[in-house]
Amino acid sequence: MRFFIDTANLDQIKEAHDLGILDGVTTNPSLMAKEGIKGQDAIMQHYRDICAIVDGPVSAEVISTDFEGMVAEGKKLAAIHDNIVVKIPMIKDGIKAIKWFTDNGIQTNCTLVFSAGQAILAAKAGATMVSPFIGRIDDSSWDGVKLIEQIVNIYNAQGFMTEVLAASIRSPLHIVRCAEVGADICTCPLSSITGLLKHPLTDLGLAQFMADAKNL
Ligand code: E4P
Repeated sequence: MRFFIDTANLDQIKEAHDLGILDGVTTNPSLMAKEGIKGQDAIMQHYRDICAIVDGPVSAEVISTDFEGMVAEGKKLAAIHDNIVVKIPMIKDGIKAIKWFTDNGIQTNCTLVFSAGQAILAAKAGATMVSPFIGRIDDSSWDGVKLIEQIVNIYNAQGFMTEVLAASIRSPLHIVRCAEVGADICTCPLSSITGLLKHPLTDLGLAQFMADAKNL
């Protein structure tokens, strides 16, 4: 399973990259706004800065919601760097736009996916990646990881090449469960990635080793 970080914060992206386990980045308009990035030029520059840190797919989301707008915006985003993946919402015009990008050799990430049916449509349109939001599904008292498992099984049964990118990750346990059911990619906040490091027995064991090392 590949690890992406789900943020537009350059310090966090660098920190995850320095761990040596980072394969890519996902952003969305909310994450970009959180960093105070305003205006077209600043947005473009920010994606350039992210691509300079990480040598892997960087999802950049369109703001338009009509076919022509998404295609025009996506073309500009894709021109920033070969690693840019155009992120398109799961709406009717979004599916048309994904098909257009597929036919024109531009990578896409279909976002805001909450059902297996939506994931099938995204794959039929040729999306490179599909992003089911598992944390938000859990928030509405469903099991988001079950949806990941269902989509993985459907894609395997049908031979779809679209990668399943588990999004809206809220905890290290989400990452472990997504790995278990065969997600291709997990996009996570830095806290969930570093949370995987933690175990009290590791801390206790290390403290003991360090204490005994003084007697060597
Ligand atoms: C996916 O790519 C989205 O950016 C993200 O995972 C959404 O997560 P949230 O539900 O924590 O906002």
